[in-house]
Amino acid sequence: MATEKCQMRALILVGGYGTRLRPLTLSRPKPLVEFANKPILLHQIEALKEAGVTEVILAVSYRADEMEKELKHETEKLGVNLIFSHETEPLGTAGPLALAKDILLTSSEPFYVLNSDVICDFPFQELEKFHRNHGKEGTIVVTKVEEPSKYGVVLYNNDGCIESFIEKPQEFVSNKINAGLYILNPSVLSRIQLKPTSIEKEVFPYMSSDKQLYAFELNGFWMDIGQPKDFLTGMCLYLNSLKHRDPSQLYEGEGIVGNVLVDPSAKIGKGCRIGPNIDLDIRLIKML
Ligand code: GTP
Repeated sequence: MATEKCQMRALILVGGYGTRLRPLTLSRPKPLVEFANKPILLHQIEALKEAGVTEVILAVSYRADEMEKELKHETEKLGVNLIFSHETEPLGTAGPLALAKDILLTSSEPFYVLNSDVICDFPFQELEKFHRNHGKEGTIVVTKVEEPSKYGVVLYNNDGCIESFIEKPQEFVSNKINAGLYILNPSVLSRIQLKPTSIEKEVFPYMSSDKQLYAFELNGFWMDIGQPKDFLTGMCLYLNSLKHRDPSQLYEGEGIVGNVLVDPSAKIGKGCRIGPNIDLDIRLIKML
């Protein structure tokens, strides 16, 4: 007899001001900034849908109308129900979970939580399997980086059980950092109050001292694209990953150099040379 897959939910944190990604965030909220010809947020929603998620809660504190207007059509096409959870004051990275508690508690299944500016080979299905196997309250995706001093480093044992966190370490302790993707059991909600709260500083350390938090190591590329330089590095990594995963999406033809993505809206003039590492559409060209 076929077993029915449980319906899972995700909450995406989209309430930040995105100051570090200016000027791109002056005209649109960060989650709607185009990355590889579609809003950053859509990359995440598509990957969640592929992993069986049919309901996505967007934790917003400003510019919700723009997000709704821009994403509604695409998410309807995907068959994903978008729910907006509005904050009247910014609640940080944990407070929004308390605000969405009533929605999240209607199911006993674990749910995903995502920072909106992460781009990677999203590992949702493997993450869920790992999380269910260890049976504790939460799992954080960790990724290896060259400059751990810019991030929150995660220390864990051979089984993945997290022992401690060190924010932006000045001396090398490890190169595995919090990748901004989590899967949590609904029981975690009892640890969070409805007030501005940081999940990294005020929730995860307590879960780890109770031995309730595990680390899942990400294979493949990862980038936090919340700053212009990292946005461009993320684009290179993404296009390179596409070349291996689905090369048919990359553009080929005369004058094309390296990995190039061309939206159908773009017209390429005669004699143009384009690339490497470009995503081209009618509105904007981003390149390295
Ligand atoms: P900067 O202004 O450039 O630092 O960007 P940011 O405000 O987005 O901050 P940061 O990149 O550290 O945020 C990490 C994630 O948490 C992003 O997905 C943000 O959208 C989200 N976030 C940060 N603060 C809040 C908040 O108060 N409410 C909600 N709902 N999300 C938040």
